Amino acid sequence: MNDDGIERDGFKSGDVVVITGGGGGFGKAFAKRFGGNRGRIALWDIDKKLGEETAAEVRAMGGEATFFPVDLGDADAILRTAEATMNRYGTPYCLINNASVFPRGEVLALSLQDWEFTFRVNVTAPFLIVKAFGPAMIEKKRGCVINIASGRALEGAPKGANYAATKAAIVSLTKSLALEWAPHRIRVNSLIPGQSLTAMPMVATPREKLIADAATHVPLGRIGYPDDMAGVAWFLASADAAWMTGQGVAMNGGAVMTP
Ligand SMILES: NC(=O)c1ccc[n+]([C@@H]2O[C@H](COP(=O)([O-])OP(=O)(O)OC[C@H]3O[C@@H](n4cnc5c(N)ncnc54)[C@H](O)[C@@H]3O)[C@@H](O)[C@H]2O)c1
Repeated sequence: MNDDGIERDGFKSGDVVVITGGGGGFGKAFAKRFGGNRGRIALWDIDKKLGEETAAEVRAMGGEATFFPVDLGDADAILRTAEATMNRYGTPYCLINNASVFPRGEVLALSLQDWEFTFRVNVTAPFLIVKAFGPAMIEKKRGCVINIASGRALEGAPKGANYAATKAAIVSLTKSLALEWAPHRIRVNSLIPGQSLTAMPMVATPREKLIADAATHVPLGRIGYPDDMAGVAWFLASADAAWMTGQGVAMNGGAVMTP
């Protein structure tokens, strides 16, 4: 309770956080940030090695985490994994839709399969996940969703129209869901990261070039790191963000300026 007498809800010790793509990159930083602060982490990933390793790291920090192997391109697998998560941990407080795929190619070279695959993992999976957990969260009248978008949603991406379009869709889904769930006291926001040092951009560009390019092109003079994103997610889930919903919060060293 603040001194204005208004109750503000946010992440509390023991709350369950579902993190897709929790094994690598940003997902691992989210798992460690929430798990290291007494969150109970349901860590979803397609990569068993990364998933098990990250869950073990959270437990080594004294946290609680279970790895759930899942392919987010498979709708049935999502529903089964949501059920397994609920059986293990009960209703989540926070859903972090973080995993995504980025098959690269110019529009004229992109196949319909790649286009549909990108939408299935990046947009349809978050849709199915919020549908799977939504009724239980609504019943509790508390919770939050954090959708991981990308600066590409705002500025486009050569050789990545599919990816950029899915990220714009996530920003939009965030707003509609925020409106639908506000009466249930569930907040929905998106985090809009700038280019950061994870496996995803390194598929296309060597690590050293990413670092050097960011040093010259990003106003704050450096590339992003997973912990930069973990700080924003931590804030978005906290009681300090209790009056915030439907927003896209950019963290990018000033690379793209949102109003
Ligand atoms: N790294 C960046 O520069 C950057 C910039 C903007 C936005 N983002 C976004 O941040 C989020 C996290 O990206 P990252 O950089 O940490 O990427 P990453 O490649 O390091 O991690 C992605 C994780 O998702 C998992 N994953 C991939 N496909 C999956 C599937 N079908 N089912 C289940 N899990 C799957 C991977 O195994 C991996 O652990 C993504 O949504 C990405 O689009 C990243």
